[in-house]
Amino acid sequence: MEKILLRNIDNDRSHTLEAYMAAGGYRALETAVKRHTPDEIVGMVKDSELRGRGGAGFPTGLKWSFMPKEGDGPSYLICNADESEPGTFKDRLIIERDPHLLIEGTLIAAYAIRAATAFIYIRGEFVRGHKILAVALEEARAKNFIGRRLFGTEAGIDIILHRGAGSYICGEETALMDSLEGKRGYPRLKPPFPAQQGLYGCPTTVNNVETLANVPFIVERGAEWYRSIGRPKNTGPKLYCLSGHVRRPGVYELPMGVPLRELIFDHGGGLSESGRNLRAVIPGGSSVPVLTAEEIDVCMDFDSLAKAGTMLGSAGVIVMDHTVCMVKSLLNLARFYAHESCGQCTPCREGTGWLAKILQRVEEGKGTGNDLDLLLSISDRMQGNTICPLADAAAMPTRSFVTKFRDEFERHLGAGSCPVGRPGPARMSLAE
Ligand SMILES: Cc1cc2nc3c(=O)[nH]c(=O)nc-3n(C[C@H](O)[C@H](O)[C@H](O)COP(=O)(O)O)c2cc1C
Ligand code: SF4
Repeated sequence: MEKILLRNIDNDRSHTLEAYMAAGGYRALETAVKRHTPDEIVGMVKDSELRGRGGAGFPTGLKWSFMPKEGDGPSYLICNADESEPGTFKDRLIIERDPHLLIEGTLIAAYAIRAATAFIYIRGEFVRGHKILAVALEEARAKNFIGRRLFGTEAGIDIILHRGAGSYICGEETALMDSLEGKRGYPRLKPPFPAQQGLYGCPTTVNNVETLANVPFIVERGAEWYRSIGRPKNTGPKLYCLSGHVRRPGVYELPMGVPLRELIFDHGGGLSESGRNLRAVIPGGSSVPVLTAEEIDVCMDFDSLAKAGTMLGSAGVIVMDHTVCMVKSLLNLARFYAHESCGQCTPCREGTGWLAKILQRVEEGKGTGNDLDLLLSISDRMQGNTICPLADAAAMPTRSFVTKFRDEFERHLGAGSCPVGRPGPARMSLAE
């Protein structure tokens, strides 16, 4: 496939305005504001069938159409650049290597939803990305691509760059808005949805970095061209993050719906060590159900993976060979969610901690006969019973690991130590 989202990144100067414009950059913004009304842009994005790349796969044009066409107060666009999902590193590539693509996509999206101010909320740990983006924003402002009267029209858009402070939950869109408002990042109950009452109580749309990076291409080449890539209802180019026991880890741009086996064995070069067998693959970042080696003949798109009982999520593909202890890897994930729970909801606050504690003793070979069913029952009680989906993100992997690799979990029970032979992580401190 022709490179689209990553077309500029092999150029050493790809982060500069000069290189971006030499490759035709900001033409789509000019076309959008000079030749199209905001509703036409929303229509184009709807027709393209672009679905959000932040995890849930919600149709982007439809989301934009929920924003009010007129109102008393301001509306806002937020670009979610918090990218913290374990196994996910695609947005960082766009931010660092093609920041103007993100800026152009953000400006067109803001124009489409009639927002005069857009925010880019960037993960605090992305120090390099923040610096690059700050310089790119200054370059764009100096050229009057950001500011008043864009290309001599009535359209005016400002972009504010805001750094997070290192919290996974602030990637959840309502926690992100609280954080932007200067509060502790607590997810909000929905409804009201952000399009009704979002940042500072005003209508707001939140979109992922990769989602917004698609927009200039849709405006420039049209919805029909965009729909010709990928599969029905799962359209366009997609960035897949490949990591773990794979020979060539990295970010791969391929059509939405590429077969998972092809991604790992053709593009990724197969397993990193010869003589080892594939054990499991997490297809969409740490929050989604795991697939066994027998389940990888599946297309990497929203609907195919949902049919296979998992999710595309953030497309963070984590490959595990047969040397991996499945208990230890689940313990690792459980500790992450226990640490990142914001603590507002009892099933999440207590449940994530209990999962981690039980998995710790199972990994150490000190689990009891009831522990596996206890893990499943806690997961059942967590899922769907909380303000935001972080509890689901801890429960879904737990259920799939314990169910699909039950033999290995059972071998740990009462074994006295991890039978896979590798020591588990240091004992978890609850104060951690
Ligand atoms: C715990 C949690 C963390 C999330 N982290 C991110 C993130 O880092 N980046 C992101 O784009 N979306 C993240 N999301 C999803 C956002 O809430 C939101 O759905 C997304 O930014 C919408 O953009 P999209 O429609 O373009 O996909 C997270 C959701 C949850 C529940
Ligand atoms: S589910 Fe967890 S992270 Fe989400 S609001 Fe409740 S306690 Fe916080």
